[in-house]
This record gives sequence, C-alpha cells and structure tokens, in this order.
Amino acid sequence: MIICDGLTKTFGSITAIQDFSLTIPDGCIFGLLGPNGAGKTTTMRMLSCLIRPTAGAAQIDSLEIGKKEDAQKIRGMIGLLPEVPGLYETLGAYKNLDYFGQFYGVPKQQREESIRTTLTNLGLWDRRSEPVGGFSKGMKQKIAIARALIHDPKYIFLDEPTASLDPAASKTVREYILELKSRGDTILINTHNLSEAERICDTVALVKNKIVKVGSPKALARGLFARTVSFTLQKIPSTLMKDISCLEFVSQAQVKGNQLVLNVRNPEEDNPRVVSWLMKQGLQVQFVTEEEHSLEDVYLKLIEEGGQ
Ligand SMILES: Nc1ncnc2c1ncn2[C@@H]1O[C@H](COP(=O)(O)OP(=O)(O)OP(=O)(O)O)[C@@H](O)[C@H]1O
Ligand SMILES: [Mg+2]
Repeated sequence: MIICDGLTKTFGSITAIQDFSLTIPDGCIFGLLGPNGAGKTTTMRMLSCLIRPTAGAAQIDSLEIGKKEDAQKIRGMIGLLPEVPGLYETLGAYKNLDYFGQFYGVPKQQREESIRTTLTNLGLWDRRSEPVGGFSKGMKQKIAIARALIHDPKYIFLDEPTASLDPAASKTVREYILELKSRGDTILINTHNLSEAERICDTVALVKNKIVKVGSPKALARGLFARTVSFTLQKIPSTLMKDISCLEFVSQAQVKGNQLVLNVRNPEEDNPRVVSWLMKQGLQVQFVTEEEHSLEDVYLKLIEEGGQ
C-alpha cells in the first residue's frame, strides 16, 4: 500500500505539487491525470525515491521514501518507466535489458525468460541484437517498459506508457497492465489518454499542482453531472411536456425528435415510474438509455473550469 501524506515539491519559486495526500491500495491501477506541468512526473519521481520531497511524507509498504536506508529497498520493489526512456543507445535491446536485470540481481534464467516473453509480446524479439540507438521512439518505449518489469516488481510506476505507441502496441501494453494487476501488482500510471484511463484505472486523481479530485471514473462522473435518461417513444404528443410536470422527481425535461430526455434523481427507481406513467398515457416506449459522461467530460469540467 502507498500512503502519501502532504507530499510537496517546490523547485525555487515553482510549486510542482502541493499537499498530495492519498492512499493507493494494493492490487489496483491508479491513474494520475492533469495538464502539462501539473506535477504528475514530479510525484512519481518522489515516490520512486529519485527526488526528495520538500515537505510531507510517503510510505510504501511501511518504508519511508525520504529515509536513505529505506530508499534502496523501495527502489527494488518498484519498476519505473520514466518519462524519457534513457537506455544505453549503443547496446543491443537484449543487452540493455540483461544489464538492468543483473543490476537488480535477477537470476540468469529468470532474466532470459522475462526478456524473451516481453520482447516477443511487444514484437521486438527479432530485433533483440540491434543497438537501441537505431530504434524508433515507440520501439525504445517498449524496451523501457520491458526494463521496468525485469525484476518482477510489486509496484509498477508508468509515466505515460502508451504516449508514443501505435494503437496495436498501446492495446498490448494495456492488456499487460491489466494482467499485472490480476497478479496482484499495484500500478501507478500517469497519462493524458483519458479513454485509456477510463478503461483500465480503478481510481484516478485529477491534479493541477494539487489534488483536484479523486475517485473512480464512474463515481466522478456521477458526482458531477445530473443523471440523464432518454426514453425513445414511437410518437410524442404535443401535450407531453406540459403533462410531465406532474412527475415531481423529474428536474428537467426536453424533447429531442422522438426522444423524451429527462434529468432524474435516481434512474434505478425513477425509470420504471416514468415508463409506467408513459404507458398510462397510451405511449409506447421503444428504448430507455442513460446518457454516459466520459472521463473526458469530467476532466474538462474539473481541470479547465474548476481547477484554476
Ligand atoms: N527538475 C526540475 N527543475 C525545475 N522545475 C521542475 C523540475 N521538474 C519539474 N519542474 C517543474 O514542476 C512542474 C511540474 O512538472 P512535472 O514534470 O511534474 O509535470 P507533469 O504533470 O508531469 O507534466 P507533463 O504532462 O507535461 O509531463 C513544472 O512547472 C515543471 O517545470
Ligand atoms: Mg510528466
């Protein structure tokens, strides 16, 4: 478990992140979202013991990130994909990974298995002997992801893992991340890809140099937007809008084509009441659908309007 308590980092007069306090339970995928310069990478670097907090504290499995004697142990528990891959450009892909595996004390056979599996899955096994300096941006990213996993870490920190990957490789990496979670690993991911975060993250924190909001993508959407349900009718009589005012749980109503669009308090309870009322009016309901708000809607509302 990762517990952050008031983590703060300043660089001169710039506050990268302030009072970052939250808990990341084991076995979950936690996303950090926020605009450029919001402090995501800084937070991840503090949790990886690469930079020290200016104030506050964080514990990873009861080890303190700011303590010198704990930092080494924490680094061994973490697999980090940094913002910039930082590989040995003159070394081949395999040798890069093997070198890091040795550095982490991974036994030879385990290194070989891990490298073969990840490079095969990421489509780079045939290129394993080529110097990484000749690889494309996305290929380097894949090698850096394989490197982050080489010592089978319990905590995996990925700073924009799919940023330079093609759609197929992004899908492979997402599936990898979900597989790591199913093994019980804990994944912290920085991303600008909101649909990706929505698909794989259990919880997200929206940050803008401080925490703006934390929750599951669905809970955030529900907390921010009224729940809107549309009832598609075979035919809508002109008097319907006047008559619907008798339903006190409907806070807003409009007609769009042959759809009656309502804001209701509690769709699970209210939808059947609307349907039976419509049937009493002699109307036929063809479809009932709830309007879904995406994480992008939540992000734009909170970060661009509220998170100033
Ligand atoms: N080493 C540093 N020296 C000075 N300022 C820094 C340093 N690292 C980060 N910053 C500043 O801290 C702020 C947060 O940067 P950070 O890299 O954490 O943002 P981010 O959320 O990861 O952004 P992006 O989405 O662009 O990657 C920025 O204003 C940045 O300029
Ligand atoms: Mg960053």
